[in-house]
Amino acid sequence: MKLGAFRLILTALALPASVSTAAPASDGAAALDQQQAQRIDPQYSCIVCHTDMRRAFLEGVHSERGIRCHDCHGGDPRAFEVAAAHADPSFVGTPDKIQIVELCSSCHSDPNQMRQYGLTVGQLAEFQTSRHGQLLLRDRNFDAPTCTDCHNAHMILPPNDARSNVYPTNIVITCARCHENAALMGKYGLQIDQVKNYRESAHGVALFQSSNFAAPTCIDCHGSHAALPPAVLQIANVCGHCHVLVRRAFYAGPHGKAALDGRLPGCTACHSNHGTERVLPEGIADTCVNCHGADTPAVAHGEEVERLAIHATEELGSAAAAIDELVVAGHRTSDVQFRYQTARTSYLQIGQAQHSLDLTALEDLSREVASISRDIRGVAEVAAEHRWEHKLILLPVWFLTLSVTVLAWFRIRSSRREGSS
Ligand code: HEC
Ligand code: HEC
Ligand code: HEC
Ligand code: HEC
Ligand code: HEC
Ligand code: HEC
Ligand code: HEC
Ligand code: HEC
Ligand code: HEC
Repeated sequence: MKLGAFRLILTALALPASVSTAAPASDGAAALDQQQAQRIDPQYSCIVCHTDMRRAFLEGVHSERGIRCHDCHGGDPRAFEVAAAHADPSFVGTPDKIQIVELCSSCHSDPNQMRQYGLTVGQLAEFQTSRHGQLLLRDRNFDAPTCTDCHNAHMILPPNDARSNVYPTNIVITCARCHENAALMGKYGLQIDQVKNYRESAHGVALFQSSNFAAPTCIDCHGSHAALPPAVLQIANVCGHCHVLVRRAFYAGPHGKAALDGRLPGCTACHSNHGTERVLPEGIADTCVNCHGADTPAVAHGEEVERLAIHATEELGSAAAAIDELVVAGHRTSDVQFRYQTARTSYLQIGQAQHSLDLTALEDLSREVASISRDIRGVAEVAAEHRWEHKLILLPVWFLTLSVTVLAWFRIRSSRREGSS
């Protein structure tokens, strides 16, 4: 694939008549004159006819760097007739999917061009290892995505631009274009439920409903350019990349050892890959029966874990209720709030440490939650007693007020009687 040299293009834009042979060369990018790069010269013929491409292209990152239509398409940008503009021997028209990979990579795989923008150059190398890349480049099968299927051809934007196809909340839609297409996926024996399940999962809900950008999208588990499903032995590492403490606990217990021996498919054994749901404390023992017989020691173990988790949940709940009471009664709560956070931290650790199945560690954590919660309830009870004492002190005052009112009433009645007689 031939590419234009930026220096030549810029000269061409400024002095159209002086470069009669501005045929694209491929000697790499030169430093750009920003001022000229900002706009496309009205004498640049491609945009005179292709006005529909102009806007999208100008919004993308490439136009700003002085890249022009004929860098990718070839042609003669000084000719104002279709035949002449397209007649230039460099004209490639619309590149096919494989040519697109070569075109984009001709710049993006070149460290000498990309270094100055702080961009990595591994996209092509990664793409070649992916199922997509193998299908396209090895099998020449155009069902596979090429660079522009995920990035668009003209309005190419960086991943952190919310309008970009590869912005976290848009990635799912980009993958869904093919992965929710039953006819296309049927050919490869692939399900089309990944996107739907993901959207309903703890991760999808965290991303789309809570705008929690720490939640993974498709590419955090699969890679973007290197998209492949993780192998069984890799799954715990993929998840453990974010759930660090869970991974550590998991490998400390019997399930981690079973996973290393290939007898348990890592985290997805209990959490599924796309439909990852929250497991509530009341549901812990139920998950054990999926693999262990109902009356085995393993399930009894699970019931003990469940009991500790439920106990801690109730204790933490009662502490929260006590704090609410204090707030409603107008007490200062900064001190108990602080202690509550300590209890909550231990509580969250139960969900993580539970993966080691280490009952001693779980009992310690559960006890810590219970003891802090008890303290907080104690503070609320003392405050409530004080409030009662307060009300009791007021009792004589009420009594006095009542007596005075009754006396006054009698006085008024007797004086009225005197008046009427
Ligand atoms: C005088 C108007 C005109 C000019 C100038 C012009 N084009 Fe076109 N272009 C057309 C028309 C009309 C079509 C659609 C018909 C066709 O394919 O010939 C087209 C089609 C194309 C296509 C799609 C071709 C395909 O095979 O799918 C590309 C790519 C393209 N032009 C790029 C360019 C570039 C790059 C330039 C500048 C070097 C340019 N055009 C200049 C009018 C023009
Ligand atoms: C970074 C490379 C690149 C640049 C720069 C570029 N294009 Fe394209 N263009 C492509 C690719 C790749 C396609 C293939 C279609 C696709 O994947 O959507 C394409 C497709 C086209 C098509 C035909 C398909 C369609 O959508 O109708 C036309 C016409 C076209 N480009 C015109 C232009 C014009 C005019 C400019 C300058 C304003 C331009 N292109 C700049 C890469 C580029
Ligand atoms: C002529 C060289 C060249 C070609 C061809 C080219 N690019 Fe680029 N691309 C660049 C440069 C230079 C930048 C840096 C722009 C910036 O950072 O402002 C860039 C930036 C990008 C970015 C944004 C990266 C970021 O994080 O900021 C994406 C995505 C991208 N290109 C994808 C593509 C795709 C897809 C193609 C093929 C259709 C392509 N590029 C073709 C030179 C090129
Ligand atoms: C299956 C979809 C997909 C395909 C195919 C794809 N990309 Fe990307 N690309 C992404 C996603 C998603 C991101 C953003 C997340 C990331 O950085 O990994 C991205 C980011 C980029 C970036 C920004 C810099 C970076 O690495 O973060 C560049 C440049 C880029 N891609 C170029 C390419 C090129 C060149 C090709 C073709 C060889 C290509 N992409 C093919 C999905 C894709
Ligand atoms: C243009 C269509 C298209 C797009 C867009 C696309 N894919 Fe694919 N993908 C495919 C096809 C077709 C296959 C089947 C390859 C095979 O099995 O030979 C595939 C296979 C895969 C596989 C391997 C499945 C397996 O078990 O073989 C993963 C993982 C994957 N895609 C993830 C993604 C992700 C993540 C995205 C979005 C960033 C994405 N794909 C975007 C078409 C697409
Ligand atoms: C939390 C991690 C995670 C996320 C997020 C994720 N996947 Fe997966 N995906 C996996 C794992 C793990 C497997 C492998 C399952 C196995 O080997 O049994 C897989 C398998 C696949 C497969 C192969 C076929 C299948 O269903 O087993 C495809 C295709 C796929 N994922 C696409 C996607 C798409 C598209 C998205 C975004 C909507 C996505 N994945 C999001 C972890 C994830
Ligand atoms: C990119 C980081 C990341 C990756 C990779 C990741 N997760 Fe998550 N996970 C999160 C975030 C963020 C949340 C949301 C926490 C929340 O809602 O408070 C979450 C939530 C969860 C939850 C629900 C937590 C709860 O509070 O009940 C489970 C279960 C889970 N992930 C399991 C997995 C599994 C299994 C994998 C691998 C297949 C995985 N995660 C991969 C970041 C990640
Ligand atoms: C044997 C089944 C099983 C396996 C295997 C498993 N988990 Fe869990 N996971 C659970 C159960 C049960 C819960 C609910 C615990 C609770 O609520 O206290 C849970 C809870 C979680 C949570 C939420 C923890 C929290 O903060 O409340 C995350 C995140 C999580 N698991 C991730 C993982 C990861 C990552 C792996 C692999 C390293 C994994 N799980 C392996 C059963 C499992
Ligand atoms: C996906 C299947 C699966 C689930 C679900 C599961 N386990 Fe296991 N568990 C295993 C495997 C496999 C081993 C390893 C057995 C071996 O070493 O022979 C194991 C081993 C154990 C052991 C070590 C002692 C023994 O029986 O070998 C205990 C204890 C245990 N599991 C408890 C639990 C508890 C508690 C739960 C529910 C929270 C649970 N398991 C859920 C598959 C599972």
